[in-house]
Amino acid sequence: MPLIAPSILSADFSRLGDEIKSVENGGADYIHLDVMDGIYVPNITFGAPVVSKLRKITKLPFDVHLMVDRPERFIDDFVNAGSDIITVHAEATIHLHRTLQQIRNAGLKAGVSLNPATPLQILDYILEDIDLILLMSVNPGFGGQSYINAVTDKIRKVRKIIDDSGREIVLEVDGGIKLDNARLVMQAGADLLVVGSDIFSHGDPEQMTKLFKELF
Ligand code: DX5
Ligand code: ZN
Repeated sequence: MPLIAPSILSADFSRLGDEIKSVENGGADYIHLDVMDGIYVPNITFGAPVVSKLRKITKLPFDVHLMVDRPERFIDDFVNAGSDIITVHAEATIHLHRTLQQIRNAGLKAGVSLNPATPLQILDYILEDIDLILLMSVNPGFGGQSYINAVTDKIRKVRKIIDDSGREIVLEVDGGIKLDNARLVMQAGADLLVVGSDIFSHGDPEQMTKLFKELF
């Protein structure tokens, strides 16, 4: 069964609590929280105080995706806000290894995200320092974009890298995932699918989450 992390980026922000409850009722495995700073990506969303408030309304694990420049500056804030996984972009931090350790030292799971055009070599020296790899299948910054087909082959390659390593690393894919391409992404080797607009833009997030969960 696919693991699903609804991204609240496309939710109705005036009733975020209800939106989260809906996907929880639909069987969501995580809540994906897209944090954007207007510098690393051309959009701004929310910060740790919002995550901290949301922490009180659900027990689902929080999968925090930091699309911010020099994320090391904010790790402590997101740890204290109640995150379970913190994922940083390899392109956004100069001392990637140190930033990942900062997350793990706080007792959280550490993820590294790669943009569609970022090569995989960067994974070579950090495999023992990560719990999750998040492959972007759109350019980060906005919900509702189209899945970039070239990423499917990248998912297969990362699946092999993880399997060859013998490590328990979750392979998450984020961007442009819809009911009609989710199977392809899972078959390429993903463990965890982030879904934003296809869950929150059709009026019934609970039912949409159920449909994703029933895909296999
Ligand atoms: C994009 C975000 C995604 C986004 C996905 O920068 O990281 O998590 O919410 O939204 P959809 O599923 O609409 O592409
Ligand atoms: Zn995301």
